[in-house]
Parts: sequence; C-alpha cells; structure tokens
Amino acid sequence: MEEQLRGDYMSIKFIEDKGCFHLKTKNTSYIIGLFKGKYLVHGYWGGKINDPNTDEMVIYEDFNSFSPNPDIEDKTYSLDTLNQEYGFYGKSDYRNPAIEVEYENGSRITELYYESHSIVGKKVGLRALPSAYAVEGDRVSTLRIDLRDPVESLLVSLYYCVYEDYDIITRFVEVKNKSCGKIKLNNVSSLCMDFEENEFEFIQLVGSWVREREIVRQPVGRGTHIIESKRGASSHHKNPFVALARRNTDEFQGQVYGFNLLYSGSFRSLIEVNAYNQMRFTMGLNPFNFSWNLFPGEVFESPEVVMAYSQEGLNGMSRLLHSFYKERLIRGEYKDRERPILMNNWEATYFDFDEEKIISLAKEGADLGIELFVLDDGWFGKRNSDKASLGDWIVNREKLSSGIEGLAHRINSLGMKFGIWVEPEMVSPDSDLYRSHPDWCIHVPNRTKSEGRNQLILDLSRREICNYILEKLTNLFESANIEYVKWDMNRSMTDVYSIGLSSEDQRQMEHRYYLGLYGILEELTKRFPRILFESCCGGGGRFDPAMLFYMPQTWTSDNTDAISRLSIQYGTSLAYPQAAMGAHVSIIPNHQTGRVTDLKIRGDVAMSANFGYELDLTKLSQGEKEEIREQIRWYKANRKLIQYGEFYRLKSPFHGNETAWMITDRDKTEFILYYYRVLKTPNMPRRRLRLKYLDSGREYIDTYTKRKYYGDVLMNLGIVIPHFPGDFKSHVIHFKAKE
Ligand code: GLA
Repeated sequence: MEEQLRGDYMSIKFIEDKGCFHLKTKNTSYIIGLFKGKYLVHGYWGGKINDPNTDEMVIYEDFNSFSPNPDIEDKTYSLDTLNQEYGFYGKSDYRNPAIEVEYENGSRITELYYESHSIVGKKVGLRALPSAYAVEGDRVSTLRIDLRDPVESLLVSLYYCVYEDYDIITRFVEVKNKSCGKIKLNNVSSLCMDFEENEFEFIQLVGSWVREREIVRQPVGRGTHIIESKRGASSHHKNPFVALARRNTDEFQGQVYGFNLLYSGSFRSLIEVNAYNQMRFTMGLNPFNFSWNLFPGEVFESPEVVMAYSQEGLNGMSRLLHSFYKERLIRGEYKDRERPILMNNWEATYFDFDEEKIISLAKEGADLGIELFVLDDGWFGKRNSDKASLGDWIVNREKLSSGIEGLAHRINSLGMKFGIWVEPEMVSPDSDLYRSHPDWCIHVPNRTKSEGRNQLILDLSRREICNYILEKLTNLFESANIEYVKWDMNRSMTDVYSIGLSSEDQRQMEHRYYLGLYGILEELTKRFPRILFESCCGGGGRFDPAMLFYMPQTWTSDNTDAISRLSIQYGTSLAYPQAAMGAHVSIIPNHQTGRVTDLKIRGDVAMSANFGYELDLTKLSQGEKEEIREQIRWYKANRKLIQYGEFYRLKSPFHGNETAWMITDRDKTEFILYYYRVLKTPNMPRRRLRLKYLDSGREYIDTYTKRKYYGDVLMNLGIVIPHFPGDFKSHVIHFKAKE
C-alpha cells in the first residue's frame, strides 16, 4: 500500500471489551461489530454516538430451519438475518453477496472470519486506481480489517479511510490469494452495508446523451433494485452515484446517505430488501462482465467508494461531497485556481473551418475578454466529418497552414491561451493508424466490429497500445504551447474482447482497459502539470469522480440549451461541484433542442458553473457583443465565489416551472442568487423566494439596486421575484454583507 501521510491522529478506535470498531468524524459515527468474535457485522452509520454498546448493536434471531445455522456448535443464529459488513455466499446468507469467488475445485462457498486489524493515522491510497488523498495536518486515519476464509487461503482486507473534518468515509477492498492454487474472483464489491430496515427512498442520476443526470427518486420496496452501467463507461445513462434518503428528507433537512464510486467503467449498485425488510446496499465493479483470476500471492484491489452521511438534507450531503472533491480528490495546478473563460469552436464551425476562420473567431473572443481558445474536433488527419482519422494525431495543414505550433502562437499573441481537443482512446476504420494496426481495436476475431459514431475503441488493456498513445500525445503536447486539453470519448463499448488476453482472462478486459487509461492519465498529468485537462464523453458520459481525479473539469453535456441545462446542472450538482461542470453559451435556435432563449438566460445558467462560449462570435450583432462583454466582466469579477463557493439548490426544475440555486462564500459574507423561470404564467401575483444558508443577523446589500435585507428576512420572509414578461427568464442577484 502506498503510504500517503504519516501521522498519529486516530479517529478510529477498537473497543475491545465491546468487540467493536468505532469510526468517528466530526458529526457521524460508523460502528462495526464483531459477532461471536468472528463475524464482521454492520452496527451503525449515522449521527454521532459517544459510547457505542455492541450488545445492543447486533440484533440476531434464531428463526427456523429455513434460516440455517453456519455454526454447528451454536445454533442460535443464522447469517440470513445478521447485518453483514461484507456479505459472502454459501453459509446461510441468501442476499446478493459482496464477494463471489470460485476455487480450483469448483466450489463457490466462502466464509469470511475476522482475522486481525490495523489502524494507521494516515490515508491509505490505492495502487493503480484513482483515490482520494490527504495533506499534511488532515485528521484522517485508516482502518484495515483482514478477513480470512478458514478453508481456502483467501484474504479479504476491508479498508475504511476516515476523514474526520470532512465527515467523509471512503471504503475499498483488497483480495489476496494466499493459497497455492488459482482463485477466480467473479465479483468484488467496493462496499457492502446492511441496514436494519428499508424505510428509505433511493435517488439515482439517470439519463442519456444530451439529457444527463435527471434526478429519479423511488421508494425502496421489497426485492432488488439495480443501478448499473454495462456500457464500458460510467455513462450518460446511470451515474455511479446513489443516495439513500429517509422518506421525509428534502433538499434542506432529513437524513441521507450518499455513495459515489471512483470509477469510469461499468459499475453496479444493488439495493436489496429481504423478507425481513432488511436492506443491503452494495456498490462496485459490475460483475456482469468481470472475473479475475488471482494466482498465488496476487492481490486485487477494488475501486474506492466515497460515502457521505448528512442530517441536513440533500444540500447537506452535496456540500460534503463538493468540498471533499474540491479539496481531497481534484489535484494539480488548477485545483484551487480560477478556471479561464474559454471559447470552443465546435458549435461555431463543426468540422468546417480553416486557420483564418479560427483566427477570426479568436480575435472576436479576445476582444470580448475571453481567456482561452479551444480548437475542437477536425484539426487532424483528413477529419472533415466524423467518418475518418481518429488515431492520426497529425495536423491537417490544408486547414491549418501554420500547424498547431503556429496556430497556438497566433492565438497566444492575441492574449489568449490555446487548447486542443483529442479523442485518444479511439480509432477510425478510415485512418492510417487503423490501416497499419487493424487489430489494435477492441474486437472479437472473425466477428464484425460494431462501430459507434463510425469509430472503434483502442484496446487499452494492451500495454503497447497505451505506450503508443502516451508517446503520440506527449509529442503533440510538446509540439506547441498547449495549455488546455479536452479529452473526449465518443462511444460506448461493444465486442468487449482482447486479443492480448487468454480465453480464461477475457472477463478482465474492461477493467484492464480502465487500468490502462488511468495509467496514461497519471503519466500525462505528471508530464504536463501546466495543462488544464477537461474530460468529455459525448458531453457527460463519464462525469464521475475518477475522471475528476485526473481532470479537474468535465464537459457537462453536449446539450447547451439553457432550459435543458437547468435540470442537467441541478442533477449533476447532487454529487459534483460547480467548478467541475463546463457550461457554455451557445447560439439560438439551440442546436440540440431548437429552442430560442435570450442571451441573458443562456449566460445566467452558464455563469453559475465553469463558464465559456461555443458559438460564432463573428456573427453576433453589436448589441449582443456588448451583452457578452458585460457577462464576461461580471463573471471575472465574481469568478472566485462562483467557482469555489458553496453551491446550494433552492428550487428544483424536476418539480416545476422555476429553478433556483445560490452560491455563498464559506463565511456567508457574500452570495449570488440565481433564479430561472421556464414559462410565463399569466395573471399571477409576484411571489417570494425564501433563501437559505445565510447569517440571519447580517445585513446583505443587493450590489446592483443597493437594496438592503437582513439574512433572517431573506430566509424567513423571502425576496420578491419581480415580474418579467415572456418565457425563459432569469434573475441573478449578487449580495454582499454590510461591513
Ligand atoms: C463530442 C463532444 C463535443 C465535441 C464533439 C466533437 O460530442 O462532446 O463537445 O467535442 O465530440 O466531435
């Protein structure tokens, strides 16, 4: 294990006489019991408890013969009803197990007994997968509990990393083969947690391309709910995030448990309720297309899960996740640095541009105050449509006669940074790369290669292909003053198979792909620490915390329509901070929806996240340019607050015609209120909007109208939303506390 930090601070205690582990954060307790000295049982996770008593912590019943007894000496209990910390199969627990293994003799029976534990005053990191980190002075400690199968030499180590001040616990698992034979892992969940009852609703972020992360909330009934991706990406369809909320929990109050997997590939989360209304929650790699042969002495590590518990509603949970991601997941130079306002030529030109067009766009942008020009798809090979050239990362001089270096230089001399789009995981069948290496893509020999957007995926489970990508990109990034990279991935996986793996190991392919990708990203971000990376997957198809570990921002969605963006950004904010969300103003009628909205609301939506423009600025009227100039001035003046402040949702686009959110600084001395109304309702009186999260005794001044309000007035009485005619309207107010 990589040791990230030495220290002696312990927020974890083993209480020997009570046989339990007590993990404490500022406001929460997590308790693990040792039942009969050998079974690891889930005691509790929730609001802080000072002195746990495990006699009461474990409820167990001797039901009947249909709940068999694992222990022939003591037939008073069955694992059928015992709340497990990491459920296993074959010894009377019939719920979906956290781990599924197959031994050489074909047996799949597993027993995991407590063997030992250790506690260290530091964050333990993962070997090859992204993981949260700690910095000097953090009150963080890690508990490792080793469980061993008494017959087969299988060692399962459960890791719990406790971030006291962040109210966050992360979990991951290591499996070690200590036997002399092969062990096949068919499922290794990153976490398993058994709740005593199922009085919950679960919240997931579902959607599709251009409709990402809709909030769907459903009661947890009987039976099993599966939240998963099998697409070879965390996906537009399901995000690797799940919240379990008490039924009365809303944005502002109530208990909620949030879980987020640090992984960008296929995942699975199960919520299972058994006949006794006990609820099991598991999360991890999707076992659907996974199995891993573990040879003697080998170790397998699962991805890490970030867990946040809050009694302050969904906003409370989001605040915990946001600050944790901003401070202990995102790395690099741009971690705390204000992100530049960018312009991207994609919706302005698509593939149809030349150097003079690009320069004319950049000149307009520079004149308006934009800080970074991003050259999107179409600059390389013979790429004049999405039918060719992925893999041929060589500039097309017919389009860009000065080459990338010359273009970057010309853009820099306008006073702008230069950035570039790449899609390195892909290859077009019509490309020089494909012609010279037709077998480098993911495919099954002798079977038609299914294409997505006319492209194939390079097999990153093969080291030589990863090395090739690394070398090509290193050459490209060194060839010019490139200060930003948009890293795209524009299709889901099919034909999952690798000619580099034996038939026995085929189910490792997808996970090995991600190990390959993470290896490339780790190396590139090390080699090019000054580059700001933005992750993209047809918009938000890989908006997950693992990508944030390498790239501090993600293109939220290919849908730039302001009204669609209300729900996309609202949903995304459930787990991810606003600085991580790319948001651009684009042209009307909008290219994805055909909707026509004012420049004001397009700006007001995008200016609550990581801001940019994606339209042909040369085609705008003088009036529109002046409006944009003012948007840019305003955003720059408030950028630190907007990008790094605390983001709170006030009114949900999923519940009606209005949306509102606000961003405050930590000390509540300054905040911005964003209000959006979709359709105008005729003949309605003005309404008040009640704010939250302010200092009730403080006086706040609307910096535009200079009107003053006390915090308690804004929170209890509310602020009157003015009348404005027409559909698709917004109202943004910046407040400052009186000195
Ligand atoms: C994806 C991205 C877009 C754009 C295109 C280019 O769809 O999400 O922003 O970069 O690819 O082909």
